[in-house]
Amino acid sequence: MKILVIGSGGREHALVWKLAQSPHVTQMGCAPGNAGIARERVARNGRAVECINLGAEDLPGLLAFAQEKKIDFTVVGPDNPLALGIVDLFQQHGLKIWGVNRKAAQFESSKVFSQQFMAKYGIPTAAAGTFDEPAAAKKFAATLGGRCVVKADGLALGKGVLLCQSQREAETAVEEIMVGRAFGTAGARVVIQEFLEGTETSLHALCDGTTARLFPTSQDHKRALDGDRGLNTGGMGACSPTPFLTDLQLAGVARQILDPFLRGCAAEGIDFRGLLYPGIMLTRDGPKVLEFNARFGDPETQVYLTRLENDLVELLDASAGGTLARHELKWKPEASVCVVMASHGYPGRYAKGKIITGLDSASQLPGTKVFHAGTAWQEGRIVTQGGRVLGVTALGRDLRAAQAAAYAAVEAIHFEGAHFRRDIAAKAV
Ligand code: AMP
Ligand code: GLY
Repeated sequence: MKILVIGSGGREHALVWKLAQSPHVTQMGCAPGNAGIARERVARNGRAVECINLGAEDLPGLLAFAQEKKIDFTVVGPDNPLALGIVDLFQQHGLKIWGVNRKAAQFESSKVFSQQFMAKYGIPTAAAGTFDEPAAAKKFAATLGGRCVVKADGLALGKGVLLCQSQREAETAVEEIMVGRAFGTAGARVVIQEFLEGTETSLHALCDGTTARLFPTSQDHKRALDGDRGLNTGGMGACSPTPFLTDLQLAGVARQILDPFLRGCAAEGIDFRGLLYPGIMLTRDGPKVLEFNARFGDPETQVYLTRLENDLVELLDASAGGTLARHELKWKPEASVCVVMASHGYPGRYAKGKIITGLDSASQLPGTKVFHAGTAWQEGRIVTQGGRVLGVTALGRDLRAAQAAAYAAVEAIHFEGAHFRRDIAAKAV
């Protein structure tokens, strides 16, 4: 099989790495990929993975490439091409592709859509309202005493969420998003949720339209600095499993969230074939959904795929083809920890082009895999090219061992201004 992966981050490197191990794969490309992806090889024949100079949102370019190269199966990493309808486009042209279609992508591309869906189908979530008019939004915030979260409806690069502690902050947030359009047209409508307290955790479930297969627990670390301080980022590290939910509780969560989700999709005519990633808060009143994403998490993917035993080509093929009920997910008993090494200044402004050293010695440490996120080749060397640069990932017999192994590998890698959190997985340990 010839496989094309779309995207360029740490998630896509993990997808490429895992897919390339499948005996079904003979050739693999990634658009646009990164320096680490370009070093991967197809296990069956040793062929190098080819990075293709096409952006993840260049739908016509990607379609033409897949047709010309006779790609058998395309796997989509990021949310934007899904929201733009890449799956619908490829399918219209008779090409096999994995990811949610445009209608199903609304769970991520519209927070108003998700919130109304959750209310309609009884999925546990925060008390919330959806608004297209600032005065009504402010009035609702007042009913929560101003302790609320104001969310721009549309995709805003993970930034359109403002946490408020007072009515004054809530009114400023509504003004910024709805009137000042701080996140562009994404802010034409907002969701306002009550401010929930608890432990945040990520769920992932692979779906094929009728069946959902839940992954083990994982946790992202969204803030830039140790102790969950600093600005929100795309994610500074992850671990799996986490001790915050027992297997029994996880099964309960599946019933409370996944069952009504699938029932609602059937009722609304949404054919959800892809990855459902609910962000949830474990509150004193039970788990509540904060948001839905419709793709793999980054860096959750890095910890999940290092633990996954199954052939990922077979699983994604079953997800796209509606035959997931025939597959059980199998996970290594080991724990996995991923520490993100970022550029100095991230998530704000940062410099690029810093030379990275120690990648090979880090990769030789047992149980370690260094996934690249923002890297490029420059004059024969690997240099930094993005905010999140590397996802240094390690397996260990338990979380503590995995954490120690991941940090040992981090210590072996150097680039000017490298910034990483020192407390990834600390809460879970
Ligand atoms: P979202 O993109 O909706 O997941 O929001 C981004 C981040 O904001 C989440 O990861 C949470 O840390 C925080 N957040 C979102 N909604 C709430 C809420 N209702 N209560 C408390 N924190 C929230
Ligand atoms: N782990 C955060 C995200 O993928 O959105």
